[in-house]
This record gives sequence, C-alpha cells and structure tokens, in this order.
Amino acid sequence: MQAVVLSGGFGTRLRPLTYKVPKPLLPIANVPMIEYVLAVLPDEVDRVVLATNYMVEQLEEYFEKKEHPFEVVINTEPEPLGTGGAVKFAQKYIDDTFFVLNGDLISSLDAGKMAQFHRKSGGVGTIALYEVEDPTPFGMITTDDDGRIQEFKEKPKPEEVTSNTINAGTYILEPEVLDVIPDGQKISIERETFPSLVPKGLYGLPFQGYWCDAGTLPKFLEANGLILENDKALAAPLQSYVESIGHLCVGKNVQAKGDPVLKDSVILDEVVIEDGVSIDNCIIGSGSTIGQGSILSGTIVGYDQDVPPGTKLTDGKIPPEN
Ligand code: GTP
Repeated sequence: MQAVVLSGGFGTRLRPLTYKVPKPLLPIANVPMIEYVLAVLPDEVDRVVLATNYMVEQLEEYFEKKEHPFEVVINTEPEPLGTGGAVKFAQKYIDDTFFVLNGDLISSLDAGKMAQFHRKSGGVGTIALYEVEDPTPFGMITTDDDGRIQEFKEKPKPEEVTSNTINAGTYILEPEVLDVIPDGQKISIERETFPSLVPKGLYGLPFQGYWCDAGTLPKFLEANGLILENDKALAAPLQSYVESIGHLCVGKNVQAKGDPVLKDSVILDEVVIEDGVSIDNCIIGSGSTIGQGSILSGTIVGYDQDVPPGTKLTDGKIPPEN
C-alpha cells in the first residue's frame, strides 16, 4: 500500500511559528508532528508520498536524515492544489489501495483495522470518523447502519445536524478515485471529491480514543497534552519544572531564572525565561527570550524572538517580530 500525507498547507493559524518551520515539523512533545501521523500507518505501507509546497527544503532535509521503514517521496506541487489536487498530483506514485492523511493529526486511530474494514466493505473509499458532541465546526458525515456514507455537510448549522460523527482526516481510497479528480486544478477532497463519490460506495468507520487536529494554538496545546497522557512512546524525554502546572512541554536547554509560573504551555528548545515571568496557554518558539516580569497568556511567540521585559500579551495577541 501507499500513503499520501498532506503536508503543503501554510499553517497560517500557527503563525509566527510557521514563518520559520513548516507545520509538519513543529514538535509535539519534542517530536515533529508528522512522526505521529506516520506512526499510525500499518506495516503494509511501503511508500509514503509527502504532498508539499511550503518550506520544502526543510522537509527534504529532515527526511534525508531520518530513517523510516518505508520509502519517502517528497512531491512538490507547482502551486498549492488543495487537498484533492495534491492527491491527484501524487498519482504517478500510486498503483494500489492507498491512505491519505492530513499531516497535522494526533490520533489513536488503528489504521490496520481501517484497512481490513475497507477491504470487506468493497467501497471505493473509507473515511475515518470521530464522534464529537458538536459537529458544527467540522465536516459532518452521516452513514447508514452498515457504515455506508449517506451525506456530507461541511460546518453544518445546528438545525442541519443529523449525526455526531465527523471526518477525521484519514482516508483509504482505491486508485480509481484519482480518475474523478481533474488534473492541475485546486480541488478540495472533502468538499468536492467525496460528495461526488457517494453513489459509488464510500464508507465511514468510527474509531474510539483520541483525535486532535493540531492546527491552532488551543489544539496544538491539547495535542501536546494528549501525547503526554496517552502516547509517551514517541516523545523524547521532557524536562519538568517544579513550578509547572497542568500540561507543560519543555524542550532542550531551556533556562528559567527565578521562579517562573509555567502553565499548560509548550516551550521549545533554547528558550530563556527571565525572572518573574508567567506563561499560560502559550507556545514559545525555540531560541526566544522572554523578558523579566512578562505575562503571556494564550499567545504564540515565534522562533528567536525577544519579548521585552514587562510585556503583557493575552487573548491571541502575538509579539511583533524583531
Ligand atoms: P491553516 O493555514 O492554518 O488553515 O493551515 P493549513 O494550511 O495546514 O490548512 P488545513 O489545516 O486546513 O489543512 C489540512 C491538511 O491539508 C494539512 O495537513 C495541510 O498541510 C494540508 N493542505 C492544505 N492545503 C494543501 C495544499 O494545497 N496542498 C497540500 N499538499 N497540502 C495541503
């Protein structure tokens, strides 16, 4: 089997971090996010096509150095082709049933079980489903009792909710699906390709456990918490701080002076935290310095930023670049 990992988005909601590092390489519990995505793939996957177009050199460099039990092909689009266009653009590397995975997902999906279900169902595709209380911010999917998909609804209004299962961003598709995606066009697989495949037999398989699309500040922090709670196997050793509260991930060579209050945050490598600092629900990019007495809450500090002493940043405000 093959797998296409969608890794070409700009990651705008994680800026300013994604000005310097592509989202798939941002660390969750000190390990690049993409490793958690690749870790769900069953052994029968022998080739992974990374569908990229943003910060490709960094991805190339990473995959040149890192060994994996499958071949990794970096397939760079001439321009962003959307999730469907990127899959079509990978066609030359696909000759078998294949996975498609969003490159920013942290989940406990059993992809081997999903492949078994797919073969049994005989459909052209299977979509991993996840149960949520409120599907309105997501792509809602309604199935019949056999799992055959009846309806897709992107971000349904409350009165349109007919199901509480959503598209969990992982698919198994037959190569014939590629024939319905036009060449060289920007296409959304979720909004355009899948609804057109319903008459051909698309199935949904719910899974239990955890699932998180780590593409925003709160979700990135949640993803770190999930890994700390559930899946320490991949995570590199983390430093712990006595003053820490809640889920806290601290990278290598972080220096904290005095008694900082560090709560529910991700602090990447080589950060310097001066005296009297409070950091709560933040991501702090590697190499940054947080000046004395700064209070940061719900903010993203980029890589190598100098946050001046006495800075107060809350509610999603990010420090200006320097
Ligand atoms: P935002 O800019 O913050 O919305 O993030 P994003 O660009 O990553 O978008 P989103 O989270 O909606 O994308 C879901 C997945 O599809 C991510 O893994 C993206 O890397 C990937 N993706 C989105 N658009 C493209 C594209 O045009 N080409 C490729 N190859 N991947 C894409």
